Amino acid sequence: MQRDAHGLPVTLSSAEAATAFDAVVSAYLAYAQDAPQKLKAFVALDPEAPFAGILRGSFAMLTYNAAALPSARKSAALAVAAGGTPRERAHAGALSAWADGESDQALAIWEAILAEHPTDALAVRLHHFVAFWLGRGPQMAAAIERVGPHWDRDLTHWASYLACRCFAFEEVGRYAEAEAAGRRAVELVPTDVWAAHGVAHVLEMQGRRGEGIAWLDGLEPQWQGANSIRHHLLWHRALFHHERGDRAAVLRLYDEGFRNLNSPLTQALPDMFVDIQNAASMLFRLSLQGVDVGDRWTELADKAEGRLDDTQSAFTLPHWMMALGATGRFHQAAHLLHAVAEAARGTGTNAAILARSGLPACRAVLHHARGEHEQAVAALRPALSTLGELGGSHAQQAVLEILFLDSAAKAGLTEDARTLLERAAGRCPVPPARRVDYAAIARQVAH
Ligand SMILES: [Fe+2]
Repeated sequence: MQRDAHGLPVTLSSAEAATAFDAVVSAYLAYAQDAPQKLKAFVALDPEAPFAGILRGSFAMLTYNAAALPSARKSAALAVAAGGTPRERAHAGALSAWADGESDQALAIWEAILAEHPTDALAVRLHHFVAFWLGRGPQMAAAIERVGPHWDRDLTHWASYLACRCFAFEEVGRYAEAEAAGRRAVELVPTDVWAAHGVAHVLEMQGRRGEGIAWLDGLEPQWQGANSIRHHLLWHRALFHHERGDRAAVLRLYDEGFRNLNSPLTQALPDMFVDIQNAASMLFRLSLQGVDVGDRWTELADKAEGRLDDTQSAFTLPHWMMALGATGRFHQAAHLLHAVAEAARGTGTNAAILARSGLPACRAVLHHARGEHEQAVAALRPALSTLGELGGSHAQQAVLEILFLDSAAKAGLTEDARTLLERAAGRCPVPPARRVDYAAIARQVAH
């Protein structure tokens, strides 16, 4: 029996396959651009291995793209048929549940794997990622804490664990512990983009904007081998500039960085879900500040038109809707809204989330775009307490708060605006008066 980098037994045909397997896991944990090539090499070496199907299916699911679902399900079936150790069979079961829309079941299976094998780096990261896209900060932090005593610096993926610890703790407001873990990870592995990202979140949540820009600026040369997570890091940098009112810097980072349409990364994946969130949310924030964003919405709306029936990524849906609304494509927006309503009537974890939070958020975005501010507030008000389940970080979720606040102010619904400001104040240590997207309305409704 071969063993992985952490000594866990893996059903593989050769030592060469074991090396290739470890290379895929390392590339995945590192957000490496060449992770798909590493996966291909591993699968070519050992196509019958349980982890060949598990990894291929997981990589398909990680795209949050409905077009990848058939391939993910096929890989899950192959992984289940391949058998293997109890841990491998559990991984295959988690992938099957995930591909069938039963994300809660998948999370429970990864948690069971971690109870037996706390150093299973793949289970840690997949759990972390899927819990994040369900807005489950406490569940992410609890999983990280449970396995913590079994991890130490002698493990190959120690820095990667610290990166997850950083981000999970940041999302539950444990900023000091988060920052320490993230900085330690970057000291050990300067190329660790996930740790760089976690620390950026701490700096964002604490309003340490100058430090945030310097942190990301100093680390950017380390990201040459990273995939589109680089765009998200540049979005974070732009967010610091946005908070400081430097709109020229934001637009420069938009065009030359996180939404550079000519970059090989964007050309390879032009409608990658996080890229779309980065772009739409920044344009939305800028527009509300009165910035002329030119025709930047158009290409996003074009991409949205290609994904009108794809409800895989709940948090991306209101962003697609922003692009359709900003370009006046209301017929296509109605199509998307209908698709979300249909999906919300289905079964599984995502369907319930779409019904409770996705549909209200999409409706609110559409009303906002039409200037129907009272209706936007009415649509979003009942979902305010559950919006987190759409996924995304506190920093990303703020765009929905800002939309509600803008509509409440424009509709003269002062009490709704105050409610939102109080909610925002409870979720972020930086008071609304010191946050650019909240400050003007906070002043307006102060009395
Ligand atoms: Fe982020």
